[in-house]
Amino acid sequence: MSAKKSDNTKAREICSGGGLSGKVRVPGDKSISHRALLFGAIAEGPTSIKGLLPAEDPISTASCLRAMGVNISPIRAGETVRIEGVGLDGLKEPDEILDCGNSGTTMRLLLGLLAGRKGRHFVLTGDESLRNRPMQRVGHPLQLMGAEIQGRSNGNYAPISITGQKLHGAVVGTPVASAQVKSAILLAALTAEGPTTVIEPAHSRDHSERMLKAFGANLQVGGEIGRHISVQPGERLLGQDVIVPGDISSAAFWLIAGALVPNSELTIENVGLNPTRTGILEIMNQMEVNYQVLNRRDVAGEPVGDIRVTNSGRLKAFNLSEEIMPRLIDEVPILSVAACFCDGESKITGASELRVKETDRLAVMARQLSAMGAEIQEHPDGLTIFGGRSLKGTAIDSETDHRVAMSLAIAALLAKGDSTLSRSDAAAVSYPEFWNDLGRLRK
Ligand code: S3P
Repeated sequence: MSAKKSDNTKAREICSGGGLSGKVRVPGDKSISHRALLFGAIAEGPTSIKGLLPAEDPISTASCLRAMGVNISPIRAGETVRIEGVGLDGLKEPDEILDCGNSGTTMRLLLGLLAGRKGRHFVLTGDESLRNRPMQRVGHPLQLMGAEIQGRSNGNYAPISITGQKLHGAVVGTPVASAQVKSAILLAALTAEGPTTVIEPAHSRDHSERMLKAFGANLQVGGEIGRHISVQPGERLLGQDVIVPGDISSAAFWLIAGALVPNSELTIENVGLNPTRTGILEIMNQMEVNYQVLNRRDVAGEPVGDIRVTNSGRLKAFNLSEEIMPRLIDEVPILSVAACFCDGESKITGASELRVKETDRLAVMARQLSAMGAEIQEHPDGLTIFGGRSLKGTAIDSETDHRVAMSLAIAALLAKGDSTLSRSDAAAVSYPEFWNDLGRLRK
């Protein structure tokens, strides 16, 4: 293991003011990193991964896979990761509990991957946050395919135990547009008897579909509203060379900081621009942020570009609703910071999924930004934020959530007066170099 677990206690002083300038390369996309590790593990032959995110969440996925006999080279920043794939049915029964740490993607995708390993038993757990996140949304559809999954509260909460079964294909409608749920079902479908079709209510991120096809799965995508993804089992997966683009969800902090912090000009290089992830750019258009996408290219099946953003003066308030939510689900915390500095009232609706992320992100952002003097109303499915008032520096807390930590860091730069951010090290879950990058860009 190469990244240290965040201790989640570290309070950090953040001075307000000062422009940000220069270039920054955000770390590899978290969703793509998990998938590259999981698909590489069950492929035949070697897989190499360049640009894998060297952060706590993908490290949790790698250590679970290692516990099931998969050889994965150490995960270190800047180094290519190599996996010796064990094939579709090669995962061994682990002699320890699989610890998914803070990572919902690890637990949900593993549920799908392991449900069909007949004759083997697995137990999954995670940290306190993950043990309180709903798993039935994955367990129920897998049970329709014949899976045997048990856990607290009727299988909804980890620790969760899986007794591997021979699964049968099914037509499964997912209750929420969740890429984690969809991907779990697709993984289970690879070794089920007969075809499986997943029907999702709206497009969630499609990294699994793209990458499974590249690894050789027989997968078809059709339909627009009520999108269908069908898998025909029986194809072997073959190891691939994967290149992971930078994570737009990590770039989001710099996009908003560059737009709002006076005298800023930032270029964020090598950002993944998969259209199922670029909702934040659509909102930046609504806000009239000054930015350009440069050097658009395709890297290993994913669109990529550099984004240059400059301080954009007064920004317009925006509305986010259910339709766009899957394309910017992880960016709502930083967008709620942005809304505090927009002219007028911004409304976020259709965002109740935020309540079951690493923390209840609607409640946490409302609480922390209110402590800084923001005027925010919290609703069951969103927030109304009255912008145009200044925030004051104060004592704030990530409440252990990585995206909250980084969002509040940007809020603290924009506030009047300095802040102290407790549990700032949570950022290491998805962006271990965040604090170093911030220091460098402020010089
Ligand atoms: C992810 C999907 C999203 C996202 C999470 C990563 C993935 O979750 O919030 O950070 O890698 O599939 P949901 O699918 O539950 O919305």
